[in-house]
Amino acid sequence: MNPPVQAAPASVPLLDLRRQYDGIREEVLAAIARVCDSQGFILGPEVEALEREIAALTGAAGAVGCASGTEALWLALAAAGVQPGDSVITTAFSFFASASAIVRAGATPVLMDIDPGTFNLDATLVRERIRTRRPENLRAILPVHLYGQCADMDAFQQIAEEFKVAIVEDAAQAIGAQWRGRGAGSLGVTAAFSFYPTKNLSAYGDAGMVTTTRSEMAEHMRRLRNHGSPRRYYHDEFGWNGRMDAIQAAVLRVKLAHLADWNRGRQQHAATYDRLFAEVGLTSSSTAGASPIRLPVRSPLATHVFHQYVIHAARRDELRQFLTDRKIGSEIYYPFPLHLQPVFSYLGLKAGDLPVAEQAAREVLALPMFPELTEVELRRVVEAIAEFYS
Ligand SMILES: Cc1ncc(COP(=O)(O)O)c(C=O)c1O
Repeated sequence: MNPPVQAAPASVPLLDLRRQYDGIREEVLAAIARVCDSQGFILGPEVEALEREIAALTGAAGAVGCASGTEALWLALAAAGVQPGDSVITTAFSFFASASAIVRAGATPVLMDIDPGTFNLDATLVRERIRTRRPENLRAILPVHLYGQCADMDAFQQIAEEFKVAIVEDAAQAIGAQWRGRGAGSLGVTAAFSFYPTKNLSAYGDAGMVTTTRSEMAEHMRRLRNHGSPRRYYHDEFGWNGRMDAIQAAVLRVKLAHLADWNRGRQQHAATYDRLFAEVGLTSSSTAGASPIRLPVRSPLATHVFHQYVIHAARRDELRQFLTDRKIGSEIYYPFPLHLQPVFSYLGLKAGDLPVAEQAAREVLALPMFPELTEVELRRVVEAIAEFYS
């Protein structure tokens, strides 16, 4: 008897967290019950256990749980020594928090252009900028591992040594990613992770984590996330309430046990997308290719965890509407580069100044990507894109 032919799905969501929940429901509810039974809701043993597990996963010397990825970025910058009056170089093509956290630390973001292949901060431009026009009081560089692929950390580590600046990783989208076999989160002095519900490792609310390669910085961040307080009701510096909830830590610990499998699932889907796009003749992965789309470029030294599978697409907005009409999810990360956000007008950059980031903002499109997707769904996405360009 022939196997039943699977009908094309009526819709393909960008992300469907319910499928993940269905697989871990009992474990998650038991973990939440454990916290409720303990009546300890903030920090405590669940957070401490998660901190140890994330330090082990990333290869960092220490990890500190906090309230969000945004909070983690601020802690990472403050612990790395960024102070009011400093400058920090970062990418113009990221989520807003990569740059707003620099402002919150009292410093000035220096927004720079990206590599057209990986969409990550362009290390060659950064080196040239520091060599020729070093920003005043440059304290740190904050590369973002966008979409789950590490920025060129060989180059940034060399720049850090040569010019005596700190590297702070924005690893919000890159839990489990590696560079030359070393974990994101152990490649700078400090690093920030987000556990926002859409992330590869995600909480049931807001949560984040900072990691560091220096134990003394872990202790500093532990104090900063709790009002700068080394002991109860005693304060020798200004901190904030950036603590992690125990319920979030308990949920995250359940999910952490599945992360390697889930990241593998994402990598397999990325490979399947590549194969299916090749089958329909949309294969070019070079920037100069004739294909109307360009597939994600992998750096040979990076292990990409495909938080997002993002293509460059000609007539991107029309394509997106075409997919929406067919109930296929997609998203634009990010439609406006940071230097063109009204709030950053004081930095004095204008349209045309960072052309690669501006072009990316016009052309990128994220396709459905989560571990539980089926090949039939991936095929539906690819066939719809092929139909659009036919
Ligand atoms: C690159 C990047 N940095 C920082 C953040 C901020 O994380 P959160 O939303 O947990 O504050 C996010 C997530 O939204 C992100 O994608």
